Amino acid sequence: MKVVAFNGSARKTGNTTILLNLVLDELKKKKIETELIQLAGKPLQGCIACYKCFQNKDKRCAVKKDALNEYLQKMIEADGILLGSPTYFADISAGMKALIERCGMVSRANGDLFKRKAGAGVVAARRAGAIHAFSSLNHFFLIGQMIVPGSSYWNVAIGRDPGEVKNDDEGVQTMKTLGQNMAWLLKKLSR
Ligand SMILES: Cc1cc2nc3c(=O)[nH]c(=O)nc-3n(C[C@H](O)[C@H](O)[C@H](O)COP(=O)(O)O)c2cc1C
Repeated sequence: MKVVAFNGSARKTGNTTILLNLVLDELKKKKIETELIQLAGKPLQGCIACYKCFQNKDKRCAVKKDALNEYLQKMIEADGILLGSPTYFADISAGMKALIERCGMVSRANGDLFKRKAGAGVVAARRAGAIHAFSSLNHFFLIGQMIVPGSSYWNVAIGRDPGEVKNDDEGVQTMKTLGQNMAWLLKKLSR
């Protein structure tokens, strides 16, 4: 059983990575394999609306000049998908948006590739806009027939400089509870 996580932040060792790892640590405690992929440093183009994925139906994006298809394959092989984004102008980062647009479109073109996998999003923010970013992540899971576990609060935590989210006790607990609930859900879905 495996969960693949993607960090959409420009900072590989920033707050979003910390939040993702809090979730992943709980999954590991339940013997679930995890992998964290950093989108930073490898630019991803957004969807170019060529709709070739609907013609080809080969579970691949027709734009092959970046790492998108590698990421897509990771999602296809995983039992759960965890997406993390910082809040940038009250929404997800451009890299995370590109990942969602292209994986989401190829999924739709191929009969919902992530149907009934578990999916969850986490968001770091300095001050405001995190709920909007959280909704943007959830749109990806919910249009794709995925199953979304909840937590004790919406999956957001507050911090500006790298490491500051560790001071947000409620945010930290929210991530841990999310990890526990995602592990529980994955075991139920595998039956
Ligand atoms: C381009 C940019 C836009 C940002 N916009 C917001 C925002 O709208 N709301 C907010 O609360 N924080 C905003 N921030 C702050 C980040 O969300 C915050 O520092 C977060 O902890 C970064 O996560 P990271 O360390 O994983 O990169 C912005 C930061 C950047 C670089």
